[in-house]
Amino acid sequence: MKSFRREAKSLSRSGRHSRRRGKESRIATLKERAEALPKPEWIKIGVPGFDELLEKGIPKGTNILIAGGPGTGKTIFCLQTLYNAAREGHDCLYVTFEEAPWRLRRHMEEFGWDVKKVERRGTLWELVVGKAGKSGSLIIRKLDPLQIARSVEGLLAKAAGRLSIEIKGIPELVPAALTPYMIVLDSLSALESAFTGKPGGYRIYIDQLFRLFQEVGATTFVITETEEAPERYSRTGVEEFLADGVFVLYNTKIRGLRVQAIEILKLRGAKHERKIVPIQITSKGMTVFPSETIYGAEELR
Ligand SMILES: Nc1ncnc2c1ncn2[C@@H]1O[C@H](COP(=O)(O)OP(=O)(O)OP(=O)(O)O)[C@@H](O)[C@H]1O
Ligand SMILES: [Mg+2]
Repeated sequence: MKSFRREAKSLSRSGRHSRRRGKESRIATLKERAEALPKPEWIKIGVPGFDELLEKGIPKGTNILIAGGPGTGKTIFCLQTLYNAAREGHDCLYVTFEEAPWRLRRHMEEFGWDVKKVERRGTLWELVVGKAGKSGSLIIRKLDPLQIARSVEGLLAKAAGRLSIEIKGIPELVPAALTPYMIVLDSLSALESAFTGKPGGYRIYIDQLFRLFQEVGATTFVITETEEAPERYSRTGVEEFLADGVFVLYNTKIRGLRVQAIEILKLRGAKHERKIVPIQITSKGMTVFPSETIYGAEELR
């Protein structure tokens, strides 16, 4: 009897041991797997002062909505970000539905940014920028949003009620030969206006577009025009949920003073400041003042 108990005890002890060993090895496997995952790469924006709002930077490959009222600096913020990346030797793409490429080029000239070479191919402009041995190209592409809307509507009519379409049949946003490091889309609002009376088509296209950005792996900045003190950061609200981050630009009056400011409202996977800070646009471009706070910022909400 005694020996039976002893035997049973030792059996249960060895069972506990093997359970613990099992748990330990599971933890070890999880640890190994976590270590095997690619480490996130962090992207810098390069607009003076802006990166101080972030602990490490922006996770590479995220897509960010740049929201703000008219004339708040959305285009300048994005253009400056792409110019900085191209100067570091990366190829970047600026897709515009609004401003002609020559106007964006003129902005760059006015700010005294260094463009080494300009090559024009119809509505596609390739600007080479950067220091010797480290130059990248900034490709500016003008697309007609009406043409996109018409193609999407045509494809949807052919798809007879199916809620997905093949984005390849639509004027291509990203030229096949290009693997951009960053992409800017200026703007969703212009695109949405082209889908008059067909909000369904716009939503389906946007969904496909964000998927395409994910496949390309580029960090993307999608501009959306809002009211002066926005309650919502995109036209349909869908874009906010599809995007990994939302940066808001403000240009408003607080107690009689005109205030220009920026805020990182959300950014998945990154630690950042949660405050509205002033910006200044001068003849050299945009500067952010990360250690200042806007007095009376609650009035911006
Ligand atoms: N050289 C400059 N010096 C000072 N301020 C400038 C200069 N160039 C532009 N700005 C300011 O930048 C603002 C426009 O910036 P930007 O075109 O980036 O705005 P936006 O938000 O893209 O506007 P929109 O909604 O019209 O597209 C102007 O309203 C002006 O106040
Ligand atoms: Mg603009």
